[in-house]
Amino acid sequence: MIGPGDGFGAPLIGPPLPRRDGPAKVTGAARYATDEMPPGLAHGVFAESAIAAGRIRAVDAAAARAAPGVLAVLTHENAPRLAQVGQQGQAGRPGQSHMPLQDAHIFHAGQYVALVVAETIEAAEHAADLVRVEYEPDPAGPRARFEAHLDEAEVPPRIPLIGTPPVESCRGDPEAALAAAPVRLDLIYRTPVEHHVPMEQHGTVAAWDGDRVTVWDSTQHVYGVRSIVAKFLALEEEQVRVLSAFTGGAFGSKGSSWPHITFAAVAAREVGRPVRIWLGRRQGFVGAGHRSPTLQRMRVGAGRDGRLQALLHEAVGHSSPYDAFSDATAVVSRMLYACPAIRTGHRIVRVNVNTPTAMRAPGEAQGSYALECAMDELAAELGLDPLELRLRNYTERDEDEGGKPYSSKALRECYRQGAERFGWARRPLAPRTQRDGRWRVGQGMATAVYPGKQSPASARVTLLPDGRAEMATATQEIGTGGSTALAMVAAAALGLPLDRLRFAYGDTRLPRAPVSAGSQSTASVGSAIRLAAEAALRRLAALSGGAPNPTAWAEQVANHGPVSGEATYEPPDKDARTHAPHAFGAQFCEVRVAEDSGEVRVARWTGAFGCGRIVNARTAHSQLLGGIVWGIGMALLEETHLDARLGRFMNRNLAEYLVAVNADVPVIDAFFLPDADEAVNPIGAKNVGEIGICGAAAAIANAVFHATGRRIRDLPITPERML
Ligand code: MOS
Repeated sequence: MIGPGDGFGAPLIGPPLPRRDGPAKVTGAARYATDEMPPGLAHGVFAESAIAAGRIRAVDAAAARAAPGVLAVLTHENAPRLAQVGQQGQAGRPGQSHMPLQDAHIFHAGQYVALVVAETIEAAEHAADLVRVEYEPDPAGPRARFEAHLDEAEVPPRIPLIGTPPVESCRGDPEAALAAAPVRLDLIYRTPVEHHVPMEQHGTVAAWDGDRVTVWDSTQHVYGVRSIVAKFLALEEEQVRVLSAFTGGAFGSKGSSWPHITFAAVAAREVGRPVRIWLGRRQGFVGAGHRSPTLQRMRVGAGRDGRLQALLHEAVGHSSPYDAFSDATAVVSRMLYACPAIRTGHRIVRVNVNTPTAMRAPGEAQGSYALECAMDELAAELGLDPLELRLRNYTERDEDEGGKPYSSKALRECYRQGAERFGWARRPLAPRTQRDGRWRVGQGMATAVYPGKQSPASARVTLLPDGRAEMATATQEIGTGGSTALAMVAAAALGLPLDRLRFAYGDTRLPRAPVSAGSQSTASVGSAIRLAAEAALRRLAALSGGAPNPTAWAEQVANHGPVSGEATYEPPDKDARTHAPHAFGAQFCEVRVAEDSGEVRVARWTGAFGCGRIVNARTAHSQLLGGIVWGIGMALLEETHLDARLGRFMNRNLAEYLVAVNADVPVIDAFFLPDADEAVNPIGAKNVGEIGICGAAAAIANAVFHATGRRIRDLPITPERML
């Protein structure tokens, strides 16, 4: 493998360049998927099931069909029959396996029961309201609360996320080690259902040309959408082209393909016109996935010196009746600390919801909450400083991977510099000792870790006679500025100014790239881009009989016409790799808790991170901020309420589904340490997208304990729970 120091021109912490698509976004010139308006465009709107479990007895669409402007109404009685696909996650994580409008079964509230296609969105919405459905509700009522059915918990066949971590793990004899440990904790933590609520909502435009369909989709994965649309419609993949110029946030919700995407193509074929389906905020809560709730039991055994002797982390989540989705909730507990005996496992309980899906740090967010709160509880039990406890359990080897060295690990330095900048040393050890008027004040910390996920990626780099270069790969720009970072990788590899690079992405006609998820795009696609750039330079050298010289290549290329190099980066799988790649960080925060109202405010934050090479200091820093802000929401605000009797998500809007806003967020001091990683991949970059949320909620819960002496183990920590 080419080492990152080997002729690669990028600095360890790259310049803080603004994103190249910024002006297009703020001027409205950027075209998102549902901005596409092909001639003759019609609009599709779904009607939703009013019940969560049962059957449709009868559906009367006559009034809807007769409404002005209506072109078609599809119900389970007349909708085209789609091919069957495997369960979600079984073939490259294509999406939910169940498709509505295929039979009379109702599996969850809000399941689509009709699709109205009309001349305008208003006409379609009106007609969707006119569809009359009679139901036969399941007499037992819906299953909504997974905790009521723990006796039916099952082991999921796999964890369908990048890297597919094993469902269960065990080393040593955890039960015996726990029984023998001088200090033991047995704790239950809970996290609720959450929704991604991306700023740009889910939407798709589909247009047929003969037997070929073009799909513009707001997605994290154009190749994934192509695969699932082709499967459901029994087409060759080449008959489907998927385009995504911009995706306005996703966070996992657009990593899988949800039914509306395929139905845009179905409806367009039915009416013989292009069709646009836009779910909107309310429907997005049921039409795409959510974060599964978790119930996590943490058992910790330790010596009086604080060294871990046993760790048992069991996570239960929920899934839909038709897909066995599980987050990787307990996975962080396998490797973060030195411990001779660890057991982890995952279970799911089927309830009447649509399939949950990955949401920012899927599993790591919830699991690091439980693990890092449990570590804090252990520190309190022992009268130890929580940071000192982490240092006593520090490991230089990944015990989950048989003791492999890390590809790099800057965590010790993250602890040191983070603590110093935060002023951790001034924190009193005892809880409930600081007050400012009606506010109790406390400080908490947690470790952040995110696995070095990578996937195979291909790219093409073409040197053009005018001295420019073009890079092409089917990756997606999901709002992170990733396309700017990737262009910076190409610029460094070619020795070319950034403004001489064109970047074509978001199109299945381009070389294959993986889902923009798991924080893997810069690492995976960036590695492919570096390899492709070097292939192009080698080819030019061969053609012109000399070493490629970036300053003179325009002349050299002019003699030969455009010169292309193509490459695929194949990350080694877990068994084959010699080093364990993880990104690390340390989170420190101060909270203020109002004694009279129970309100929790986050007052200060320091986060120090080591994530390998940072290609663009500005866009990467923004990812840290976004993750930490999300951690504040996760700790204090975010919760989708699933009504136990009706099986419905009750707060399907941003007025009642609360996310952290500016007023909830202090100035955040987040920074990267120089972290040279020579082993992870050809550009030495690890994952920065999701690590910011990892440990963030735990740091807050731990600070709340330090302020008040009270442990709230169920998220979010609302005023009701504080009082
Ligand atoms: Mo992220 S939840 O892996 O899109």
